Amino acid sequence: MTVKPLIVGNWKMNHDYVEALHLTQQIGVVLKNKSREHVDIAVAPPFVDIRSVGSIIESERIPISLSAQHVSMFESGAHTGEVSVNMLKRLGVKSVIVGHSERRTMYGQTDEVVAATLQAATRGGLEVIFCCGENLEVRDSNDHLSFVSGQIDRAFSGFDKKNFSMVTVAYEPIWAIGTGRTADTEQVAEMMAHVRSELTGRSMPDTRVLYGGSVTADNAAELATTGHAGGFLVGGASLKVESFMAIVEAVDDCYARNR
Ligand code: PGA
Repeated sequence: MTVKPLIVGNWKMNHDYVEALHLTQQIGVVLKNKSREHVDIAVAPPFVDIRSVGSIIESERIPISLSAQHVSMFESGAHTGEVSVNMLKRLGVKSVIVGHSERRTMYGQTDEVVAATLQAATRGGLEVIFCCGENLEVRDSNDHLSFVSGQIDRAFSGFDKKNFSMVTVAYEPIWAIGTGRTADTEQVAEMMAHVRSELTGRSMPDTRVLYGGSVTADNAAELATTGHAGGFLVGGASLKVESFMAIVEAVDDCYARNR
């Protein structure tokens, strides 16, 4: 347990900019009362909230970083509805989620687009949180390990090695996202080891590997210790200060103890 775990709140399409400001301020208050130095924290608000959330993080010096939920693989031009790497960078965004299963399944994001976006983002100076994970059919047919290997293969073919340090991987089994059905500790431990060995084989041994899928304060500590998750991508539980900071606290405590 040497690398600091990362906990990312993926707000998805929730919270308008007023609600987003309020939640960010609340997170700031909690962290002011008790700093959490054993974890890195990020929030990924909707695009329209990013500027307000970024301003409050800066003005109140809240020790969290700003992430985006999506970015275009193109630099600029005729791409209605899209947002570029440079636009996000100008707003102080540090990282972006790429290949989330909701974008893959609901918005037709292909492996090719995922790979091109990973390259465009890192080339432009944005860190990436690359998501992978199988659906229930693949899990039930016991093909989850090779499925995830394939996703990693396709995502990083052609990726510039010098940008490996800008990559975090999040394993998010689709059947566990928003369902309340978390992968159990053995399933997480198995996949963490598998993804890490895939990454080591690609000369990315220090990459952080997160787990995502119905993470709560009740399962976070065990998933971090016995499950060996290097942090979490949190959806539903990141929308309220109490549930999000309870996860942060649980992970921070267990890393503090294991130092
Ligand atoms: P969940 O979402 O925590 O609500 O399951 C996780 C995610 O989709 O990143």
